[in-house]
Amino acid sequence: MLPKHHWELVYTTKTPQRVSWYQARADQSVRLIQQTGLPLSASIIDVGGGASTLVDDLLHEGYRNLTVLDDLQRFCRDRRVSGAVSLSGGNPLLHPDFTAIYRAAAERDFGLCILGNPAPRGRIEELVDIRMPAFFQVSLEGLPEHNDWVRGAGHFERTTKFLRDLRELGVSSMVMLTLTEQNIGQVLPLAGRLRGLVDDFHFNRLAMVGEGANLRLPSRERYARFLEEYLEAAGRNPALGIKDNLINIIRRERGEPPFGGCTGFGCGAAFNFIALLPDGEAHACRKFPSPIGNVVRDGLAAVYDSAAAHSYRGGCSGCRSCPVRPVCGGCLAVAHGFGLEPLTGRDPLCFFDRA
Ligand SMILES: C[S@@+](CC[C@H](N)C(=O)[O-])C[C@H]1O[C@@H](n2cnc3c(N)ncnc32)[C@H](O)[C@@H]1O
Ligand code: SF4
Repeated sequence: MLPKHHWELVYTTKTPQRVSWYQARADQSVRLIQQTGLPLSASIIDVGGGASTLVDDLLHEGYRNLTVLDDLQRFCRDRRVSGAVSLSGGNPLLHPDFTAIYRAAAERDFGLCILGNPAPRGRIEELVDIRMPAFFQVSLEGLPEHNDWVRGAGHFERTTKFLRDLRELGVSSMVMLTLTEQNIGQVLPLAGRLRGLVDDFHFNRLAMVGEGANLRLPSRERYARFLEEYLEAAGRNPALGIKDNLINIIRRERGEPPFGGCTGFGCGAAFNFIALLPDGEAHACRKFPSPIGNVVRDGLAAVYDSAAAHSYRGGCSGCRSCPVRPVCGGCLAVAHGFGLEPLTGRDPLCFFDRA
């Protein structure tokens, strides 16, 4: 038997207390970490944590920035699902432990993608040597002038150069545009301009949260019209990705089969994804404050099974009797951005009623 299989068998057939190396507290490891003099805010990854209490003990000592990938591995094994890790945030590659986390996720065979900013080519080569990511996503906000107004001078050009680097390195690329009232007319011209340069182009509607609160979304009528135009263009340009749940309204109107929507199951908040912050705080969706617990404190399984996660999985009560619901559910983050209670107030851009 391969050593890996041997240990997998031990882990799946014995309770943690019955293995010979079990200790109720990882005292010596905690002491050694304390002796390094790292501040309590230091990022610590427990690679190979398994059933060890080390992260619980570190949390008890006041350390706050802990990462446990094995919890996800165990969760996926228990629930017979495959796991994927998307590394995102302000600029995830700037995190001092980015490479270590990337490597740890790759070693555990998780699907792996990066939602980041243009980076030096050498940095991407280093990651590709560890493992080819499923894709690297960058953002553009519209045509060069508007994009650089939002993201700073030179950003558009830097991004297109980076897309060329990704192509040369064989990394699948994705451009994401956050759709607003201001840039809605630029989506299709931008997609045309990126043809041949990017593997997948997507847009997602602005959630008027955080800095996004200063921007606006188009009206429901304008948005519905836009989706029709987008679908028509997507028929001619295979790089145009279909993501927004509300597209399923149009599909239904046309008698076409539905597609999986935002996550494959319509809104997948707290269902097939959660957003995890460095301190273990977990949210149902990364686009709006939707806390469901703390993974470092309670473990992923307890967070996933929490009452809060259950509510977000149920989605908006206003969608319950809608025939499109299994592949839709609107966007909870958009509803939140409009000041609605997302579990009761339906996505304000939903145009199902026109059907
Ligand atoms: C959080 S960023 C992380 C990667 C990188 N720093 C960037 O700016 O693209 C990833 C994506 O989040 C989305 N995003 C950020 N703020 C948003 C908002 N208020 N509403 C909708 N989407 C948002 C954008 O689509 C962006 O492309
Ligand atoms: S009512 Fe809800 S589920 Fe139905 S189309 Fe509108 S947003 Fe989607």
